[in-house]
Amino acid sequence: MSAMCGIFGYVGSREDAGKIVVDGLKHLEYRGYDSWGISYKCEDELIKIEKETGKISSVNSNDFCQKSSIAIAHTRWATHGGVSKCNAHPHLSEDGSISVVHNGIIENYQDLRNELKNKGYNFASETDSEVIPHLIQEELKSCSDFSTAVRNACKRFEGRFAVLAMDSNSQTLVAARTGSPLIVGVEKADNGKIDGFFIASDIPAFMEYSKTVQYLDDGEMVVTDGNKIVFTDLETGEEHPKREIEITWNAEKANKGEYDHFMLKEIMEQKDSVARAVNQDEEQIKTIANAIRNAKGTFLIGCGTAHKSCMAGEYFFSIIAQHHVNVSSAGEFKPYHHFLQPESLVIVVSQSGETADVLEAMNIAKEKGSKVLAIVNVEGSTIAREADYTLLINAGPERAVASTKALTGQMAVLILIAYAMIDKLQDGKKQLLDATALINDMLNPRYIDFLRGVAGQIHTHEDLYIIGKSWNFPMALESAIKIQEVSYIHAEGFAGSELKHGPIALVEEGTPCIALIGNDELKGDIIGNTIELKARGAKIIGIAPENNEVFDTWIKVPDAAAAQAIINIIPVQVLSYFLAVQRGKDPDMPRNLAKSVTVK
Ligand code: G6P
Repeated sequence: MSAMCGIFGYVGSREDAGKIVVDGLKHLEYRGYDSWGISYKCEDELIKIEKETGKISSVNSNDFCQKSSIAIAHTRWATHGGVSKCNAHPHLSEDGSISVVHNGIIENYQDLRNELKNKGYNFASETDSEVIPHLIQEELKSCSDFSTAVRNACKRFEGRFAVLAMDSNSQTLVAARTGSPLIVGVEKADNGKIDGFFIASDIPAFMEYSKTVQYLDDGEMVVTDGNKIVFTDLETGEEHPKREIEITWNAEKANKGEYDHFMLKEIMEQKDSVARAVNQDEEQIKTIANAIRNAKGTFLIGCGTAHKSCMAGEYFFSIIAQHHVNVSSAGEFKPYHHFLQPESLVIVVSQSGETADVLEAMNIAKEKGSKVLAIVNVEGSTIAREADYTLLINAGPERAVASTKALTGQMAVLILIAYAMIDKLQDGKKQLLDATALINDMLNPRYIDFLRGVAGQIHTHEDLYIIGKSWNFPMALESAIKIQEVSYIHAEGFAGSELKHGPIALVEEGTPCIALIGNDELKGDIIGNTIELKARGAKIIGIAPENNEVFDTWIKVPDAAAAQAIINIIPVQVLSYFLAVQRGKDPDMPRNLAKSVTVK
């Protein structure tokens, strides 16, 4: 059982390492929240481990205030098997001197586990991760120091992973990366003297203490005792010089403000976040538009909600710029790899900039010599750093698992590029900025109350269908994702015209169906599809600029021309939020999900 997760460690002169890692872990919860664990070393004692199922956010960090200057921690999203205390990380070596947290998959763990069992090692969990501390202990028999033992162990692992190991004898942390992100934070006193080091899956874990970072690249390892840090090549041991980078951005404090949940807060932030996405360097947008025009094949790649913005992008490029692009979910990209050539352009779209399938697509594109443009929200993320060009959508931190403001920011950037391709960047910009003013008007308290009421009418239903045409079709798919993931209602999205080829058989008397409609040439067609649904007893919720007699409920949206897809999805986001709340679910952390999916 492997894990996808957040990892964090500290070693240095501070004496509250346990509290530091628990507080830091709370910033990594978006990477998984089914269980958590920490290990730390107090004076003259062996390693102490505390782990539990459930969310780290509900844990009081003051409970971990024992004097300690070295600790590691983990928040987990299980990829196979059950969620249990013994499967939670950290895992200990047989002799109790080494503890390990791990993100990723050790693909050959079964062989290693059998080998170690034959040598007398006992396993306390069902995880792949537990082979790591045992193998390090085994390797220590044939080498003198901890870091060499970690290196030798890592050389035997197959798969993509990030490992952080703590040794109680040498009081050192060793971390290695072959895929999943790891970032070092350097804490210095005013006189420049090193005070300690943090090692984390993401910067917000330690941002309170340090904004000086060093990134581990794939195939690198670091060793630190809190006084100095050494970066080496994981394979050869050759030392790698490493730049210190000063982070200029701020991790907005996890603050829900006046809202009960991040999801609603982030939906409401679209009043401003779409405008921030539109505010791009114009020369850069023109360069990208040119690159798409000249590329031999452009591919738009993303996962989940970002994939839906790619699908919408295919319509934007076709309708606005009359240009064909290829769209693929990152996980389904493999059968198309052979089309990539040095003249191709791959546009990867990702909120987090860390999604494993998207990273893989990017790496393949680079191997084939294709250029990669990343449209990303998180600055400093792996994808943002490793792409040839990066456009940041500047949506600000998105904490709720359900992506909202990132989607609309991504779509705004794609529309902008499509207009730049026909040398009408200013027209595109104006349309999008007009749309942001419309979003501001739309998201008023009366509108939100009205949507709460609409949710109240349908929240007891177990099935719900959404239809759309053209760029409203990917928005129908996205609507289904939003409703499923937070309310657990069985929701499905379809292209309006596809209904009568099968899905319409599912419609019964009273089944709620949402139709996403724009004031465009396809309006008559989608109204026709809606009438077909109504004839089978569906209760129609129309999201459209104009009312129509087929609607049982009309959710009015402004007429926003090319930005209609952005406008139409917003009331569905609000509706999903209220459906979750009215069904007693936590919209910010839905069951079984994680914000950032770092395994394939
Ligand atoms: C997860 C999240 C989704 C997100 C998808 C892609 O499934 O829950 O909200 O759309 O990953 O993530 P990315 O960070 O690459 O946009």
